Amino acid sequence: MPLLGLIPCLACLALSLTWVVPPPVVGHGEYGQQAHCRLTQRVALCDRSQLSSVPTDLPGNIEELQLNHNAIRVLRNTCLSAYPHLRALSCASCRLDAIESNAFHNACHIEDLNLAENYIRTGYQQTGRALWLLSRLKVLDLSGNGLTEDMVAFILRNMSSLERLSLSGNVLLRLDQTIFSHLHRLEELTLERNALYEIEEGVFDGLQRLRRLSLAFNSLPCLVNFRLTRLLVLNASHNDLEWFIADQDIKEPFHLQTLDLRDNRLLFFPFLPTLSYVQTLLLSDNRVGFYQHLAEAHSANWTTHVQFFNLNGNVSNVTVELWNETLYGDISSVELLDLTGNQVVHLPQGFLRKMRKLSRLRLGRNCLKSLDLEELSASLYELDVSSNRLTTLRANQTSLNALGNLTHLNLSHNDLQRLYPKLFVGLSSLATVDLSYNKINICSLEITDISVEDCDCAVWTNISSLRQLYLRECGLRQVPPSAFNSTPLTHLELSDNPGIALSQESLAGLSRTLQQLGLGNTKIQDFDFTLFVHLRSLDISRNSLAHLPGSLGIPDLRWLDLRDNSLNSIPLEQAETLSKSLQTLFLGGNPFNCCKMEWYRMFKEVNTVNIVDRPDVTCLYAGHGRHGVDSLTGHLCRVDSEEPGWWYIALFLPVCLSIVGIAVIFTLTFRSSRVPGVIKKRCLKPTSY
Ligand SMILES: *[C@@H]1O[C@H](CO)[C@@H](O)[C@H](O)[C@H]1NC(C)=O
Ligand SMILES: *[C@@H]1O[C@H](CO)[C@@H](O)[C@H](O)[C@H]1NC(C)=O
Ligand SMILES: *[C@@H]1O[C@H](CO)[C@@H](O)[C@H](O)[C@H]1NC(C)=O
Ligand SMILES: *[C@@H]1O[C@H](CO)[C@@H](O)[C@H](O)[C@H]1NC(C)=O
Ligand SMILES: *[C@@H]1O[C@H](CO)[C@@H](O)[C@H](O)[C@H]1NC(C)=O
Ligand SMILES: *[C@@H]1O[C@H](CO)[C@@H](O)[C@H](O)[C@H]1NC(C)=O
Ligand SMILES: *[C@@H]1O[C@H](CO)[C@@H](O)[C@H](O)[C@H]1NC(C)=O
Ligand SMILES: *[C@@H]1O[C@H](CO)[C@@H](O)[C@H](O)[C@H]1NC(C)=O
Ligand SMILES: *[C@@H]1O[C@H](CO)[C@@H](O)[C@H](O)[C@H]1NC(C)=O
Ligand SMILES: *[C@@H]1O[C@H](CO)[C@@H](O)[C@H](O)[C@H]1NC(C)=O
Repeated sequence: MPLLGLIPCLACLALSLTWVVPPPVVGHGEYGQQAHCRLTQRVALCDRSQLSSVPTDLPGNIEELQLNHNAIRVLRNTCLSAYPHLRALSCASCRLDAIESNAFHNACHIEDLNLAENYIRTGYQQTGRALWLLSRLKVLDLSGNGLTEDMVAFILRNMSSLERLSLSGNVLLRLDQTIFSHLHRLEELTLERNALYEIEEGVFDGLQRLRRLSLAFNSLPCLVNFRLTRLLVLNASHNDLEWFIADQDIKEPFHLQTLDLRDNRLLFFPFLPTLSYVQTLLLSDNRVGFYQHLAEAHSANWTTHVQFFNLNGNVSNVTVELWNETLYGDISSVELLDLTGNQVVHLPQGFLRKMRKLSRLRLGRNCLKSLDLEELSASLYELDVSSNRLTTLRANQTSLNALGNLTHLNLSHNDLQRLYPKLFVGLSSLATVDLSYNKINICSLEITDISVEDCDCAVWTNISSLRQLYLRECGLRQVPPSAFNSTPLTHLELSDNPGIALSQESLAGLSRTLQQLGLGNTKIQDFDFTLFVHLRSLDISRNSLAHLPGSLGIPDLRWLDLRDNSLNSIPLEQAETLSKSLQTLFLGGNPFNCCKMEWYRMFKEVNTVNIVDRPDVTCLYAGHGRHGVDSLTGHLCRVDSEEPGWWYIALFLPVCLSIVGIAVIFTLTFRSSRVPGVIKKRCLKPTSY
């Protein structure tokens, strides 16, 4: 009997086992671990597959193997010998401590090896010996491995085939002459995000093929005697550089095209080579100024020698003419000069004139008091002098004709009060002008015929190229009729000109082109938008509007800012019209009536309108203060919310009082025996009938 009972039980176990064991992966039977890897052509992708070793059963002909984000602590000897055709191996973020010396046995054709973000620091000697066997290795990424310069020197000892090397994010402090001395073929070297504070002279001298060098995000105090004539790109941004001085004695041309010195502490404009082809010169966020006037003022024979000491106590004498502004090297090929965020008070005479190919000039956030338009090159395309101290801008038609390519002009945040009124009319390619935060008016038509040299207003008629005009906070009193005739603006920003007189005629010329209009904080009340059929974006925030302009049913309006007005509701029909096209809506800071929010629910229901500042949208409910509209519950206002609230109170009060009265009588009559004696005494005894 007991045996009989066991049989169905075993059968049951067997049955459940077949359910527990997962069914075999169809089609992958030949290679077990391939279940983790994806094969495309001859590339095996095994990223994030929880591997603890290199899969050994992939097809033998693969050429690329990606093992990133696994936990392979060690690449064991011969672990790759099944893949003799391997060209590229990537094992980034693999918690790799070491590569055993013979790991690349039979896989020595690898050309591209990525070992970024591992712990090679631990087993760097073993790893170095393994790498030495890769005589065809061209690309090596050792970034983020905690390597010191001695470890790097060891690993790179005879890797003469390397063409690209990244050592970013290690702990290199100082480079000496030996470290890269064998890398004769190196073309690109990245040393970003280390803690480099010194580079010995001549470290890169042996690297005849080096074209790109990045030293960004280190702590270098200076780059002097720069003499890498064949380099194309030097990136030394985000260091502590106070000096950049090229070797002035070298007479052969430098091939440098891009020099990035952003975010350093340069006081002087970099001393460039005497013959160079620099096209992109990035100097933003330094302390650059020009100081010749100081030297002249003191008629002094100020020093022209700068001495630099290195750690070994060796002095290098670098001679530069510090105070002679004509000697900043060859800038004749510069196309982009970014001096944003420096301390330039004036530009030296003839400085801009030297850059005949200049196309973008960025001088924002400096202290410029004047700008000589005549010095600018004919190829200038973009000019940014925002956030300076310009007060006047003089020009005449001759000088403007020469700027026929100027397309973007940013003059915002200056103290401009006067300028040549036809300045913008005269620039034939002008497409964008930002004149915000200056005190410049809009000339009325009568004045446009008058030829004056400078004036407190600018003419905006008949500029056929102009598309975007920003006149935020210009102290504008009015927009005269036909102010923009024959100027097909698509964007017009007039916000923060409170009290501006603006009529339909003012913007008449724009009805068919205008797409974006800013009228925030202009105190406009009822503007007729019906003509502006192409308007897509409208800012009428901060205007104390008590109701939406009736003309706001613009067919294509997608972006609408209604913040900080006095709106108490939006008519449902208007909301319905708007919701057909609107995509982005701002509503915060209005005293909406909590009991008139049908329009809001409608916007939410259509689901195509994104109310960006939803948490800030509040409404008022009489006697209950401010509510977030999204947390609003229906019970405060009934459907017929027009009925005053006291009506309900009047209705319910007698009923409530009656119930309370009945309850009291009931208690006193039937429960009196349970009332404590004290109360009995106080409440019941005195009443005697
Ligand atoms: C590096 O040195 C090792 C022995 O020290 C040698 O076997 C290997 O071929 C060398 N590699 C190169 C690229 O010279
Ligand atoms: C210089 O390096 C920084 C940091 O990697 C980078 O953001 C910047 O774009 C580089 N500059 C150039 C000109 O490539
Ligand atoms: C120039 O320097 C020399 C030596 O320091 C000094 O004697 C001389 O007075 C200086 N000249 C002027 C004009 O300051
Ligand atoms: C100073 O530099 C010279 C040449 O570069 C070198 O021979 C000498 O050893 C250096 N002196 C010290 C103290 O490092
Ligand atoms: C560097 O220049 C100074 C001043 O001209 C001179 O006294 C010094 O001897 C020079 N040092 C070297 C190493 O040339
Ligand atoms: C600047 O150097 C140039 C060329 O050497 C020279 O002609 C000019 O006189 C110098 N200017 C001043 C102010 O020293
Ligand atoms: C102006 O721009 C056009 C088109 O970008 C270009 O072909 C032309 O050379 C530029 N003019 C000058 C003077 O650089
Ligand atoms: C424009 O100004 C420049 C210098 O300010 C002057 O040389 C030129 O003659 C002026 N042209 C006209 C037409 O006034
Ligand atoms: C002009 O420059 C200011 C300040 O740098 C910037 O905020 C603004 O966006 C620029 N204007 C345009 C049209 O790019
Ligand atoms: C507008 O400019 C064109 C040339 O750019 C000129 O021929 C025309 O007379 C101007 N019209 C007005 C009304 O100024």
